Formats: sequence, structure tokens, C-alpha cells
Amino acid sequence: MKYGETVLLRTFTKEKPREFIVCVSENEFHSDFGVIKLEQLTELSAGDTIFSHKGQQFLVQKPRMPDMFRHAQRSGAPIMPKDIGIIIAYTGLCKNDVVLDAGTGSGILAMYLGSIVKKVITYEVKANFADIARNNIAKAGLDNVEVRCGNIVEEIDKIDEKFDVITLDTIDSHEIIPKIRRVLMPGGFVVTYSPFIEQTIEIRKAMDRSGPWDAITIECIERPLSISERGTRPGTGGVGHTGYITIARM
Ligand SMILES: C[S@@+](CC[C@H](N)C(=O)[O-])C[C@H]1O[C@@H](n2cnc3c(N)ncnc32)[C@H](O)[C@@H]1O
Repeated sequence: MKYGETVLLRTFTKEKPREFIVCVSENEFHSDFGVIKLEQLTELSAGDTIFSHKGQQFLVQKPRMPDMFRHAQRSGAPIMPKDIGIIIAYTGLCKNDVVLDAGTGSGILAMYLGSIVKKVITYEVKANFADIARNNIAKAGLDNVEVRCGNIVEEIDKIDEKFDVITLDTIDSHEIIPKIRRVLMPGGFVVTYSPFIEQTIEIRKAMDRSGPWDAITIECIERPLSISERGTRPGTGGVGHTGYITIARM
């Protein structure tokens, strides 16, 4: 591993697995499992193991996107992995694609997309949120995700690039829809994510006015199973509603 690289340290205890995100440096990492000298990581590769001074063994791994979802610094509420999966599957996102995303928030969706596609350009209206996202993206080791600070409703008219997929997770997505045909590749997709049905109706009306669009709106319900010695059944807690996803093709 190189200096400055983000590393996931995972260890298994009797109770549960534990994990920590660290940065390769000359510092020490302290936890209830003891001290690890982080420069030792420069002699290790992903898949190796490292021991704390108390003898606790850790797996050394490169963080993947679900790890970044758990450990990235949060600003705006991120899109959940289940909904990101839907976006990727329904648009067929692939390594040649160029994506426009707004708003960036913590950059969770932008990072997931950046780990798959050629390039992501993402707009965030709040400068401090844009900085948090840039930091998260750098920690994820992604150099193909560009965070631009600005209001996408105004900035979209100035954009020169064309995009295979556009993802919108802003309260004003319905104001952006009438402007996106110019920057969307023929056959490209626009995806909107809205927590409320009223926002979704506004988006669908904006599509009707600026169409034709081939559009569907879906909600993805995730139901984890609870597995114990007493029996197996759907869990009684967990995530309920997150958002409505509208996927439309030009
Ligand atoms: C719910 S968060 C987005 C979370 C993000 N999709 C993620 O997965 O981390 C919405 C973000 O959009 C930003 N935003 C709202 N309106 C915007 C606009 N018109 N242009 C750019 N960003 C905007 C907000 O500041 C907020 O950070």
C-alpha cells in the first residue's frame, strides 16, 4: 500500500466483525485492540494481514464502495445501496459511459457510479458539501469523479458535454427535466430520486410537457431476513421507504 492510500482493516471477534478505515501514514492507529504503526502498511498488499501490539490480527483490504457507504463523511442524506443497484441495472451503466449527477451531497451515488463508468461530473450547490464530497472521493481513490460547485438548474444551460446517463437527487429536479435533452445522448437515460410522491408527480408532469419520454417510476423495497436459532423470518426493523425512482429514456 502507498502513503496517503485509504485502507480498510477488518478483524473478527467472538461477538462480531469490526472494521476501521485508516490512511497509510507515519501515524499510529489506536483502538481497543491495541496500536498499529500505519507505515507498516507500506510493506503490505491488499489481502495481507497485520497485527496490533496486542496481537490482534487484521485483514488489510482496499475499501470497496459499500465500505465507503458506511465510512464516508455524511452531508446530504445519501442514496441507499438498494436504490443505487436499481439505477445501475435499469440504465445498464457501463465502463464507456459519461454521467452527469446532481446534487452531489456526500458523493455516495457519484462514487458508486465512478467505480463503474468512464467519468462522472457531479454538481453540488453548497460549497462545504462539495468539499466533503471531494474528500470522500479522494479517499475512495477515484480520479474520474469531478465535483463542480453550482446550482444545476442554472448551470445545465452552460454545460458543453453530452451524457449517457443523468442522475438527479435534488428537490428541484422537475425544473431540470425541461433542460436536459440538449445534454443527453440519444438513447440516454435520466434517473430522478425523490423521497416524496408529490415531487415525483411534478417530475412526471415535467416529463409529459418536455417529452416524449419512455418513463417508469418504481420503489425498491428491501426486506432483510432475521436468522436465529429460534427460526428464520423477515426482520421486524430495518429500512422502510427511501425514495421513488423515475427512470426515463429519450
Ligand atoms: C439528498 S442529497 C444528495 C445525496 C447524494 N445523491 C448521495 O448519494 O450522497 C441532495 C443534495 O443536493 C444538493 N442540491 C439541492 N439542489 C441543488 C441544485 N439545484 N444544484 C446542485 N445541488 C443541489 C443539496 O445541497 C444536497 O447536498
